[in-house]
Amino acid sequence: MKFLEVNKIHQGRSEILMKQIEPESVALSFWSPPYFVGKEYEKDETFDSWQAMLRQVIHHHSKALKPGGFLVINIGDIRCFKDESIPRFQAMNISMQKSKITREMVLEAKAQFPEFSRYQLAEHLGCSEQTIDRRLNGNNIRGGKYEIQTRVNLVGGPLQTYGQECGLYLYDHRIWVKDPAWANCKWTSNSLKSVDEYEDLYVFWKPGQQTIDRKKLEPQEWKDWGSRAIWFVKSVRANDDHEAKFPLELASRVIRLYTDKDDVVLDPFMGSGTTSIACIRHGRKFIGIEKEAKYVALAQENIKKEMSQLKLNI
Ligand SMILES: C[S@@+](CC[C@H](N)C(=O)[O-])C[C@H]1O[C@@H](n2cnc3c(N)ncnc32)[C@H](O)[C@@H]1O
Repeated sequence: MKFLEVNKIHQGRSEILMKQIEPESVALSFWSPPYFVGKEYEKDETFDSWQAMLRQVIHHHSKALKPGGFLVINIGDIRCFKDESIPRFQAMNISMQKSKITREMVLEAKAQFPEFSRYQLAEHLGCSEQTIDRRLNGNNIRGGKYEIQTRVNLVGGPLQTYGQECGLYLYDHRIWVKDPAWANCKWTSNSLKSVDEYEDLYVFWKPGQQTIDRKKLEPQEWKDWGSRAIWFVKSVRANDDHEAKFPLELASRVIRLYTDKDDVVLDPFMGSGTTSIACIRHGRKFIGIEKEAKYVALAQENIKKEMSQLKLNI
């Protein structure tokens, strides 16, 4: 079999392409998979196919990883997981903002000013346009009684099971604190849910010899993050060329902590190429897999830019 070349991004699905990785060649696999939150690149997945895909990808690591190697998965629990089985209640109201406008008052104003839009009625009655809509149509655009309710879906448990099934053991767990993702948190305005401000790093280990070299980080770096469970790393400011990048700083820390120079690092969900850029900066080799042609092209472009800045040839 022809093995996947190192220092290249390969286009295809990881469930299939990972079979072509040279056995026991990978020192670290670091990745962030689709989270099943409705991004464009996961639109064809069902919850079951998504779980099956993660399971298959994790299972391939038992062969691809070197003995003593690590698999680090960056993922976040799904906080707004739609669940049909939850009874549907009217969305919670913020008590101070409860409007005194009744349906009868709206109907009266509508009869008086039939040409008025929802917005004009709202101005006339001194309430929000949402109140008008709710009173007239029984709608609650923030999630009313006809909306499916949501809950938290923890992802660490299944990942741990998939690892254990193929001989990879959960070795460590760190939390990456990013900045509060207000833009993704429209539910916080009408619920008691917290804002989305951290993700998990699940560290799996394939049993085998591993040398711990304290010299690979500066003493201050060990104190600040190498030995710490909570990492503060700002999230990517602009996801303009890819929907869900992780920060270069995050990839750099993981790579520096779990590998040595010239080791091979795998990212089977390479996206814009962040892991490969961190590898180039820190003298590691990489294997990237990505299913979307446009992201393969983006990663290749980013690698080219990085190489020319560093005046390197792969
Ligand atoms: C969360 S993003 C990773 C972003 C990446 N860490 C970065 O910084 O750019 C997940 C990526 O996995 C890709 N993907 C989804 N399913 C895949 C599969 N089965 N095999 C390979 N790539 C897949 C998506 O197209 C997306 O680019």
